[in-house]
Amino acid sequence: MNSHPQVLIAPSILSADFSRLGEEISRAEEGGADWIHLDVMDGHFVPNLTIGPPVVRSLRRLTRLPLDVHLMVTNPDDHLQAFRDAGADRLTVHVETCPHLHRTVQHIHALGAQAGVCLNPATPAVMLQEILPDIELVLVMTVNPGFGGQSFLPGSLQKIRAIRDMIRQRGLTPFVQVDGGIDPTTAPGVVEAGANVLVAGHFIFSSPDIAQAVRHLRQSAYPSLTT
Ligand code: DX5
Ligand code: ZN
Repeated sequence: MNSHPQVLIAPSILSADFSRLGEEISRAEEGGADWIHLDVMDGHFVPNLTIGPPVVRSLRRLTRLPLDVHLMVTNPDDHLQAFRDAGADRLTVHVETCPHLHRTVQHIHALGAQAGVCLNPATPAVMLQEILPDIELVLVMTVNPGFGGQSFLPGSLQKIRAIRDMIRQRGLTPFVQVDGGIDPTTAPGVVEAGANVLVAGHFIFSSPDIAQAVRHLRQSAYPSLTT
């Protein structure tokens, strides 16, 4: 079991149809999505370019769900204020981009947002050791960031377990979020290992029935939970 009894579903709009974003988010809400996950990529830290604060601001008007912003950018500190002003509820940064991670987390909190810290697949769990008590969320990348629709890396399970153990031993309660290749086949394993927030892009938005895909993912992740 993990410290949060329910598994939360955070659809990533990266695989949504951007010409019908409002409609697709409504479908995800209908299916019971808990947060909306927004992937910000700068073409530098990761080899892809996606969205910036103007899109977050537009989405803020379309949904009441928390906006979970995943910053895959080289210089996240330069953009925290803009994303918070645009309506982000949670700002997640990568340890690989933050030489002064504690200061960055303080900055996020000073803006009134929740702080998340993300690890790439090759970055060890121990990198969280000092920052863990100060954050509301750990994000474990289960693919190399940059693109939706990639295959889950099974080696991630061991890292999720290690993080769950660190959290438990210290009596902490951050969310443990996973991102990349999550679908009904991979969800049970990550939940068993200790994840409690599932990001899914391709599985949800490539489905002909987005609402049903959200329900299906939740049920597969946590069969004992009735939706
Ligand atoms: C990957 C992004 C993910 C991605 C997940 O770099 O951070 O949020 O959209 O997409 P799927 O579920 O398609 O792997
Ligand atoms: Zn993401």
